[in-house]
Amino acid sequence: MKFFEPHESMKEFCKTSREYFFEGYQNIAREAAEWFCLSKLSPDDRILEFGGGEGFISVFLSKLSPARFVYIDKNHHAAELARKNYEEAEMLGRSDIMVCEVEKAEIPENSVKFIVSRGTIQFTEYKKTLSNVVKWLTPGGIAFIGCGFGLNLTDEYRAKVNEFLAKKEKDNIDTQSDKFEEVMFEGYRHLIDNYFDDRLEYVKALNLNGFFFEIKKAEKPVQ
Ligand SMILES: C[S@@+](CC[C@H](N)C(=O)[O-])C[C@H]1O[C@@H](n2cnc3c(N)ncnc32)[C@H](O)[C@@H]1O
Repeated sequence: MKFFEPHESMKEFCKTSREYFFEGYQNIAREAAEWFCLSKLSPDDRILEFGGGEGFISVFLSKLSPARFVYIDKNHHAAELARKNYEEAEMLGRSDIMVCEVEKAEIPENSVKFIVSRGTIQFTEYKKTLSNVVKWLTPGGIAFIGCGFGLNLTDEYRAKVNEFLAKKEKDNIDTQSDKFEEVMFEGYRHLIDNYFDDRLEYVKALNLNGFFFEIKKAEKPVQ
C-alpha cells in the first residue's frame, strides 16, 4: 500500500502508526468483518469510523463490506490523508468525510449499522461520545470502540507490539492511557446507567491486546 506524505504536524504520529499499528488495523478490520458479518451489509448500510486518522481501518473494511462509509476526525490534515487513502482504495465514491468533533457531529439517529474507533475515545468527552454512539446506531447495530491491536496476533506482530509498548514507555509517547482506564470503567457505567434498561441488548468488555467495548443496540426499545 502506498503511504502519502503527511502534514508536518502529523509526521511523528504517522511514522509510529505506519510502523507499529498497520497490521493492527488489518487485524481489527478482518476480525470485526468476520464477527459482525459486515460482508452481509447492503450498499445502503453505513459504517462509521470516528477519530479515523489516516482512515486505514475503513480502507481495510471497504475490501470486506459493500457498505457506505462515514469518516469523522477533527483534524483536517488527518482527513486529507484519509481522503487520499480512500481515493487510492477506490472507496471515495461511497464515503462521506466529515471534519468535526465526534461529540458535535450531526449524524441522523438510528442510521449507522456499525461504528468502529480505535485509539480515540480517551481524547474525546467520552460520555457524550458514547451517548452519540447509542443514538446513531440502528436498532441491532453494533459499535466496536477501544484501543487494542486485534485478538489473534502473529508471533511476529506480537513482538512488534511489545517493541511499541517499550518505545512508548521510553519515549514518553502520550496515548492518554491513564484516561483510558477511566473510560473503561466510567464509560461502562455510563452505558449501563443510562441505556441498559431500554436501548441496549448488551455491552461487552473485550481484551483484544487492549480494551475494546462491543456495544449492541436493542432491536426494539424495551417497554
Ligand atoms: C491517536 S489518533 C488514532 C488514529 C487511528 N484511529 C489509529 O488507531 O491510529 C486519534 C485521532 O482522533 C482524532 N480526534 C481526537 N479527538 C477527537 C474528537 N473529539 N473528535 C474527532 N476526532 C478526534 C485525532 O485528530 C486523531 O486523528
